[in-house]
Amino acid sequence: MDIIVVDSCHVDRATRLALRALWDRAFGERFSDDDADHAYGGVHVLARDGGRIVGHASAVPRRIGFGDRPWLTVGYVEAVATDPACQGQGVGRRTMTRLQEEIRSRWPVALLSTGRATGFYERLGWERWRGPSYTRTAAGVVPDGEHGGLMILRVDPSVVPDLATRVTCEDRPGDAW
Ligand SMILES: CC(C)(COP(=O)(O)OP(=O)(O)OC[C@H]1O[C@@H](n2cnc3c(N)ncnc32)[C@H](O)[C@@H]1OP(=O)(O)O)[C@@H](O)C(=O)NCCC(=O)NCCS
Repeated sequence: MDIIVVDSCHVDRATRLALRALWDRAFGERFSDDDADHAYGGVHVLARDGGRIVGHASAVPRRIGFGDRPWLTVGYVEAVATDPACQGQGVGRRTMTRLQEEIRSRWPVALLSTGRATGFYERLGWERWRGPSYTRTAAGVVPDGEHGGLMILRVDPSVVPDLATRVTCEDRPGDAW
């Protein structure tokens, strides 16, 4: 299996189509056009087996507010998926481990939101966010009120010492987190 790192601006149309097919297979109907858009604008790690893409993870820059501190640019991880035919064989771990190297060279902190894979990320060094989360919208800052799957990777723990403070993202089309 090959692990490839590529910036979004160099992902060609054929690869974009292959990635959308991978996400649809891995996530099913939960995966929207907005989710696909969110995956671009940063760096991708692709796992390829015989030319076929079997794994993906990307990280994009996002502005995030932690407590009362000035807003910070962090890496935001999106569209992590392993082809269902290849799950449970270490593809996800290898893909994320490589992405985390890219994160470490770019940002002091990374965040992601997951519904079902908390344990997968905890094995890779991620921590569960324990505080409340908010979204900054045109109408003001609104509580999310639902969030249980927000996780953080602290490359430099001194940047975000308190995981129980409030965290705020900018609104965007589709899921804010
Ligand atoms: C989550 C996902 C990416 C994992 O990929 P994978 O290639 O099957 O994972 P790996 O085989 O590398 O597993 C690495 C470790 O994580 C564990 N793990 C895998 N999926 C897990 C899950 N959903 N919850 C908890 N642990 C999980 C594995 O048991 C393994 O543990 P081990 O090292 O102790 O053996 C894959 O199941 C997937 O694509 N799911 C559907 C899409 C999805 O939910 N993506 C994440 C959304 S944020």
